[in-house]
Amino acid sequence: MRVLSGIQPTGPIHWGNYFGAIRQYIALQEKEQAFYFIANLHAFTTVRDRDKLRQWTLDIAIDLLALGLDPNKATLFVQSDVPEVSELCWLLMTGAPLGLLERCHAFKDKKAKGISADAGLFTYPVLQAADILAYDSDTVPVGEDQVQHIEVCRDLAGSFNHEYGDVFVMPKAHVLDTSSRVPGTDGEKMSKSYNNTLAVFEDAKVQRKQIMRIVTDSRPMDEPKEPVGDVLYDLYSLVVGESDREAMASLYRRGGFGYGEVKKALADAAEKFFSEPRARRAELAAHPARIREVVGDGAAKARKKAAAVLKRAQDACGVMGW
Ligand code: TYM
Repeated sequence: MRVLSGIQPTGPIHWGNYFGAIRQYIALQEKEQAFYFIANLHAFTTVRDRDKLRQWTLDIAIDLLALGLDPNKATLFVQSDVPEVSELCWLLMTGAPLGLLERCHAFKDKKAKGISADAGLFTYPVLQAADILAYDSDTVPVGEDQVQHIEVCRDLAGSFNHEYGDVFVMPKAHVLDTSSRVPGTDGEKMSKSYNNTLAVFEDAKVQRKQIMRIVTDSRPMDEPKEPVGDVLYDLYSLVVGESDREAMASLYRRGGFGYGEVKKALADAAEKFFSEPRARRAELAAHPARIREVVGDGAAKARKKAAAVLKRAQDACGVMGW
């Protein structure tokens, strides 16, 4: 079975990326044929600074390797190193209904926030569909926020197959579980565009300050509280084991504690949780040429697969073989 997923290089990766998606990528590399890529063409819809785009692309490669992605088990590459995907995107674009794209959350949300919409942002899900279909992917591990895009991909693949025969493999989203919607420091979904992220590789002192600044409610200390749904508790649950989580839940239910204590426990636990990857990251970052080589090898492998699928699609619809 082929597993595929992508992550945009739009800045430092955050807990939402890690707990919502990257953790699954790493688990899945053990038993499946995994393809993971850095979606720099998608990031280009928002990151217009060339130095940042380049830096963040390399940074994400380093982050993924530091967090445990093993290039001997999974294929890691950069999206734009496989130009076949952009060609496939065009074939899919011709059959993509406007109404379907207008309903996509990412486009609707950005437009609602006044971010001027261009054709790249509008057709973002079509490129994502091409990413998925180009490698005959069966499963796409993602956070909840991407499920709609996988549905669009299935719609586009379904109509193409209906018109031209069995060209594309029909993929399925694989969402970790319902708790995979990681909250940000303001309680909303953690997202770079909401400015509420905790970066995975943030300097420990800076992160502690960010955690101490999380706004909590003003209920009195002795009042018992329901833990689930509380930002601090939900974040704490991600970085501790079962017994610490249960101990914290009973503290909430008993009452008589201050949020300051929870914040301190959260900062300590987070520092410990990410300490090994942090050390690995520092080693990897010292050798960028090696990272580029690993990612380049990944692209060569990915291109072979994408070229075969693109040819299949081109043959089927008549843009080849005239
Ligand atoms: P991106 O870069 O926004 O996020 C990468 C992954 O992290 C997950 N994620 C979250 N999960 C839970 N809670 C959160 N707060 C949270 N924030 C982010 C996302 O669900 C995602 O899985 N469009 C994609 C990139 C992409 C892609 C693809 C993914 C391009 N082509 C093909 C899969 C297949 C995106 O913007 O992810």
